[in-house]
Amino acid sequence: MAGIRGLNKVPVPFRPMRALGIQTPENLMDKFVIRGGNRLVGNIRVSGAKNAALPAMAAAILTDEPVILENIPDVRDIQTERNLLVSMGAEVELGYGRAHHRTTLCCRSLVNPEAAYELVKTMRASTLVLGPLVARMGRARVSLPGGCAIGARPIDLHIKGLEQLGASIIQEHGYIEAAAERLRGGHIIFDKITVTGTEDLMMAAALAEGETVMENCAREPEVSDLAALLIKMGADIEGAGASTIRIRGVEKLHGARHRIIPDRIEAGTFVIAGALTGGDLTLINCNPEHLGALLRKLEECGVTVQAGLDSVRITNGHRLRAADVTTEEFPGFPTDMQAQYMALATQAEGTSVITENIFENRFMHAQELVRMGANIRIEGRRAIVRGHTPLGGAAVQCSDLRASASLVIGALVAEGETILDRVYHIDRGYERIEEKLRSVGAQIRRMGEILPKRAALPAGVA
Ligand code: EPZ
Repeated sequence: MAGIRGLNKVPVPFRPMRALGIQTPENLMDKFVIRGGNRLVGNIRVSGAKNAALPAMAAAILTDEPVILENIPDVRDIQTERNLLVSMGAEVELGYGRAHHRTTLCCRSLVNPEAAYELVKTMRASTLVLGPLVARMGRARVSLPGGCAIGARPIDLHIKGLEQLGASIIQEHGYIEAAAERLRGGHIIFDKITVTGTEDLMMAAALAEGETVMENCAREPEVSDLAALLIKMGADIEGAGASTIRIRGVEKLHGARHRIIPDRIEAGTFVIAGALTGGDLTLINCNPEHLGALLRKLEECGVTVQAGLDSVRITNGHRLRAADVTTEEFPGFPTDMQAQYMALATQAEGTSVITENIFENRFMHAQELVRMGANIRIEGRRAIVRGHTPLGGAAVQCSDLRASASLVIGALVAEGETILDRVYHIDRGYERIEEKLRSVGAQIRRMGEILPKRAALPAGVA
């Protein structure tokens, strides 16, 4: 394929580093100002799923033909993965603003099978290139991701699986070096259910010689979406979405076009915001089947849920009831919705016990909610939330993607004004969240943002 027209050869620059405490336009744009008290009423269109787009982009490594992905969300993690693929020699044209956000990737001339620490440290999901690189190029050098705010995030299961497919692995100086003349089929039984581990090894096995059986796989919709793309590329995969996946390796994969599934966590975040503000909110372009555990839990709390084919309508005109939650792998209650649910639990009548089973440090949002007036006690993996406690606006700090979403939700019902700092965390996984929320009545803006006249916020918002 001729070079993709308009290809931007240089990596997309990250937002400038935060100045040391000096208020610069960039710093200001890294803060949200939210005035609570408005009901959310209207429709929000859900973007494509970040956690489906990231493995799909990595899958393009598996072929020398163009892969066209539609409905790619315009979020920071996608830019990071684009820069990673470009650093390897891939051609990536992000199609934002074009019809269907059509993104074209072509990995014909990969020259550098390396994922450098500078990129991997900002996004753990960069390890998704490990399996595809070994499968396509016979070798990979990928930085170990290191920890993150929510936990240690090891990738030992990715490595163990690659070894079971015949790769030789060396770990030194913070990097994994993996090599294989050609991977061979094997039998992998995951010690723990891992989403990107299942995705990484499914991609590796797609080009291996012989059959691979993987057991105790993740069943998330994003795994099934990746399998759907790989099958369009010519892979022979059965069972994705179930606990056992069977992959018969093929010699070569070809290009394909695929539409990324809607983002169930973005949808769930807005569903909770709508319920908490006593609003009447409809999420369009979402898949209610991906939200089952959350919607059942919200009905238990007293929220009225109306699910359509590709929409969900939330109405809640009365007090919410407390309900316990335990995070589990799909189809259980998603860990990525735990922080947002905690914000809701602060407003429910009664005590909710939230148990986080997936990550060991995913309660960073609790203390910030307490600073806003919530009554939350942490006991190991459990958070005991006593509602209903009025929340008051405060200056709060974002620590990770979903904790940040929790604080936005809390601020939407807090008395007065909340200023959220370090909202670059939110920009990693939510496409223009402030515009979407403003469109249904929220009083939210970036501190450095100059709002067009028509969208000017009511007096009193800084
Ligand atoms: C994916 O992360 C998601 N990210 C996460 O979403 C999500 O929270 C997580 O799955 C769980 O659903 C992407 O898909 C890009 P895991 P992943 O491997 O794959 C342990 C968000 O907010 N584990 O399923 O990295 C691990 O420590 C992000 O969008 C090992 O021990 O998560 C954890 O306790 C945050 N060894 C558990 O398994 C391994 O080799 C589940 O992790 C791999 C994982």
